[in-house]
Formats: sequence, structure tokens, C-alpha cells
Amino acid sequence: MRLKLKIWRQQSRSAAGKFVSYPMDDANPDMSMLECLDVLNERLIEAGEDPVAFEHDCREGICGSCGFMINGVAHGPLPATTVCQLTLRHFKEGQELVLEPWRARAFPLIKDLVVDRRSFDRIISSGGYVSVSTGSAPDGNAILVSKESADRAMDAAACIGCGACVAACPNASAALFTGAKIAHLGILPQGKPERDVRALRMVAQMNAEGFGGCTNIGECTGVCPKEIPLEVIAAMNRDYIRGSWRERDNLVTTIRPFTEWSTGSKLKVDRATE
Ligand code: SF4
Ligand code: FES
Repeated sequence: MRLKLKIWRQQSRSAAGKFVSYPMDDANPDMSMLECLDVLNERLIEAGEDPVAFEHDCREGICGSCGFMINGVAHGPLPATTVCQLTLRHFKEGQELVLEPWRARAFPLIKDLVVDRRSFDRIISSGGYVSVSTGSAPDGNAILVSKESADRAMDAAACIGCGACVAACPNASAALFTGAKIAHLGILPQGKPERDVRALRMVAQMNAEGFGGCTNIGECTGVCPKEIPLEVIAAMNRDYIRGSWRERDNLVTTIRPFTEWSTGSKLKVDRATE
């Protein structure tokens, strides 16, 4: 099939970027979008040109590495599908596909279609874990979990951290991602002891990274390849308000996010211990 790829090319964050068109006259409809870029890159390398930078790892919709905009839609037109799983047969013969990186202040561009998503890692580091004492393996049934809680936690845990929710949101909000990471731990009994502090710290870090606020537009869940529901944002807000009240005497020492990420390469680590 014939396709025309119009791809954002930008050497670095400080360099000027522009769209460059690449005709693909012999694309195989069974190729994935990333395989199509592989073929294009082989040709660019053979021609002595710079290949298009894009991220990928599992190519199975699991790792969350891949992701860019296709014709203005994060991960492209197929619902609940990452670009690594999106095959060309879903496009029309002769169609022009405009490929752009995620555009958000908290995801600074690295090159072409690759952005720096370490802000997500810092949100996880700020509280997205469960503290457990190591020792012998606990009995599988020592802590009973209701079917409903297990299902809701599992649904939230499906988030792969791809960043499509941020890219789709007009506010560049990371509320769906952060809500999913808070919810999948807070719903389970093992995650409840740190539930209040976790919500406070992760929301504080999310704000410090420069993500916008959530105004309930819903674009995020619409493009999410794992169909994370908006419910996790409501749950995050609830946990945050409850945590703010319960931890009101300790707020200054509880919430101390990493800061200064965006003003330069220096990342000041300023974490509070409980
Ligand atoms: S919530 Fe969905 S879109 Fe956002 S990072 Fe997780 S998987 Fe990606
Ligand atoms: S490459 Fe892992 S989700 Fe796409």
C-alpha cells in the first residue's frame, strides 16, 4: 500500500524542528507502525541520512516505551492500542500520516519522536511503592482481598506509563497516570498503611513536574491504550483530600518533591523522610 509519512524531525531540544515528508510506496499493510518506521530508517541509513528517532522495547503493548501522535491522536486512531500494535491496514490507501512527539512541558523533547518522560519516574519514586519487611514468603491467603478490590486494583495497574494521557490532554495533565498509580496500591490492603502519604507525595510531585491540572475533559481515558477509567482521578482527589486532613500536622515534612527539573539539567533531590 502507499502511504505518505510526514514526520517531525528535530535534532535536539534546542534545535529548530520541522516536518519532513517521506513517501512509502510499498508499505506492507500487515506491518506495524513501528515496523514501517524500521523500513524507512533502513532506507535513510542506506542513503546516508539520519534515521528517525523513536522509542520502543516490547512491541507488544506492555512496556509503555512507544508512543507518538498520529494525525493528532495519541497512539493513532485505533482505540486501546499502542503504536507498536497498530498495523498499517487500519489506514487508507494513499493516506498521509502526520507523526509528532508528545508535546507537554513536563515531557521535554530529546530527538524527533522521543521525549523525556522521567517526570513519570519521579512521580513513582515519590510514593508509588509499598514498604514491606523482607523475610520468608507470606502465605498466599494471609491477607484476603475481595474480588471487587482485586479487579479494580488490577484495572488500575494496567497503566503502562506511556504518557498518551498527558499528550492528549489540553492541560497536559498527568492525573490519569498518577491516579492509576495511586489507586492500584491504595485499593489493596497491603497498600493502605501508606495510602495518605502516598497520595500527598505523588500529587505534590506531579504538580512540581509542571503537568497541568485536571479539568475533567476526558481526552486522557479516550486515548489510553489500557482504558484506565476516569474513576482513578476521582479516587486520587479523594485520597489527597483525606490525606491532607489526616497529615495536617506533618504536611511540611511529608510533601517535599524533587524540584528544579525544568530549569536545567540539575535535578535537586530534596526528599523528606517520615
Ligand atoms: S493512564 Fe493510560 S495513557 Fe496514561 S500513562 Fe497510563 S497507560 Fe498510558
Ligand atoms: S514498544 Fe512496548 S508498549 Fe509499545
